[in-house]
Amino acid sequence: MAQFPKGETAPQDGLLPAQAKLNAELRTFHAYIHVPFCKARCGYCDFNTYTAQEIGSSSQHTFAKDLITEIDFSKQVLENSGVPQRSFSTVFFGGGTPTLLPAEDLISMLQKIRDSFGIEAEADITTEANPDAVDVDYLFKLKAAGFTRASIGMQSAVPKVLAVLERTHNPENVAIAVRAAKNAGLATSVDLIYGTPTETIDDWVETLQQAISLDTDHISAYSLIVEPGTKLARQVKVGEVEMPDDDIHAEMYEAADELLTKAGFTNYEVSNWSKSVETRSKHNLAYWKSMDWWGYGPGAHSHIGGVRWWNVKNPAAYTDRITASQSPALERELIDQENQNIERVMLETRLAEGIDLAWLKSKGFGSQEVISNLIAEQLIDGPAVFSGTIRLTTKGRLLADFVVRNLIG
Ligand SMILES: C[S@@+](CC[C@H](N)C(=O)[O-])C[C@H]1O[C@@H](n2cnc3c(N)ncnc32)[C@H](O)[C@@H]1O
Ligand code: SF4
Repeated sequence: MAQFPKGETAPQDGLLPAQAKLNAELRTFHAYIHVPFCKARCGYCDFNTYTAQEIGSSSQHTFAKDLITEIDFSKQVLENSGVPQRSFSTVFFGGGTPTLLPAEDLISMLQKIRDSFGIEAEADITTEANPDAVDVDYLFKLKAAGFTRASIGMQSAVPKVLAVLERTHNPENVAIAVRAAKNAGLATSVDLIYGTPTETIDDWVETLQQAISLDTDHISAYSLIVEPGTKLARQVKVGEVEMPDDDIHAEMYEAADELLTKAGFTNYEVSNWSKSVETRSKHNLAYWKSMDWWGYGPGAHSHIGGVRWWNVKNPAAYTDRITASQSPALERELIDQENQNIERVMLETRLAEGIDLAWLKSKGFGSQEVISNLIAEQLIDGPAVFSGTIRLTTKGRLLADFVVRNLIG
C-alpha cells in the first residue's frame, strides 16, 4: 500500500490532462479524506500514518484547515481542467485514525465538501473508527452533521491475536464502539483480519462468532498481508513469528464465508459481506468500478478518468505545499485504455455480480479455452457463463488472482 508506483512529476498547478474530462458525466464522483494519525503504529500496517511521537501534535491541530484548503483547490482544478461539476455520491474518512481528530474537525471538512460540491441526498458518509478512539457523544455529533456509517477496526476477538497485531484496543472496546454507533443511528461495519501468526482456526471462528453477535450491517475480512518494511516483515524474516500457510488461509476464508452466510450476510466482493444490497460499501464499490474520486490529505490517491495521482506523504510537506498554494500532488500517471481494461478485469472479477463476458471478449480477454478450463476447475460458475457473465465460485474466490491472470492472458 505505501509502495507508491513510479509516475511522472505532477504539475504544481494540479491541472488535469484532457482525458480526465472525457465521459465524466457517465461516472460518479467520490471523496476520500485521509487522516494520517494514529495513537500507536500496529506492527503489520504500512499505511501513511504517524504517531504524535513521530511528528509532534501540531499537524493534527492544523489538519482540518489545510484539508479545507485542498477542497478549495480541487474545485478550482476541476473547473480549470474543464471537468463537469458533479456532487459527491459518497464521502469516506479513512486513515490512520480519523476519530483521533475532534468531531468538529471532521464535521467542518464534511461541511466544506457539501458547500463546495454538494453531496447526494442518499450518499453514504462513512468514517473509520478505532474501537478505543470513539465514544457515543462523538458519534452523535457525526450523525447530526450527516454521517451515515461507521467502519470499526475490530480485527479479532482474541486478546492473544490483538497482541500479536499490536492493536491498542481490547475485545470489550469493540462491542462498546458498535453499540455507540448504533445508538447514534449510524450503519455499522467491522473489519476483521485472519491469518495472524499464532491464530488458530478456533481463534478465528471465535472472532467470526463475536463479530456476528454484534449484529452489524457489514463485515470485511482480509487476510493479513506481510507488507515490506513493517515490523511484522522483520519479525517474519528473523523467525520471531511464523505466518500460517496458504491452506490455513483457505480454511479460514471458507469458515468466514460459511459462518457469515449462515448468519444472513451475502458475499458481494471477495473480502466483503453485507446484510443487504443497501448496506454494501458504496464507496468501495466505486473504487472497484473505476469511478472518479478525489483523495484529500497526505498520501491520498485520486483517480479521474484514468488519470491517477498521489499526494506527498509527509504531513509537514503537505502543509508546506498547501500553504504555498501549490498542488499537494507528488506524482501522477495516465492510464491508457488497455491498462484501464486490465484494471477493470482485476477489480470487477472480484465482485459477486461478476464481469460481462461480451465486454471481456470485445477487449480480447478470456479465450474459449481459458473459460472452459476455469469452468472445469470449478473456479467460475458454468451456468453464469451461459447467461453471459464470468462469476467466481467460492473456490474461485480463493484463487481470484489466478482467475484474473488467466482471463487477461
Ligand atoms: C489502515 S486501517 C485504518 C482504520 C483504522 N485505523 C483501523 O486500523 O481499523 C484500515 C484497515 O486496513 C487493515 N490493514 C492494515 N494493514 C493491513 C495488512 N498488512 N494486512 C491486512 N489488513 C491490513 C487494518 O487492519 C484496518 O482494518
Ligand atoms: S490503527 Fe489502523 S491505520 Fe493505525 S497503524 Fe493500526 S492498522 Fe494502521
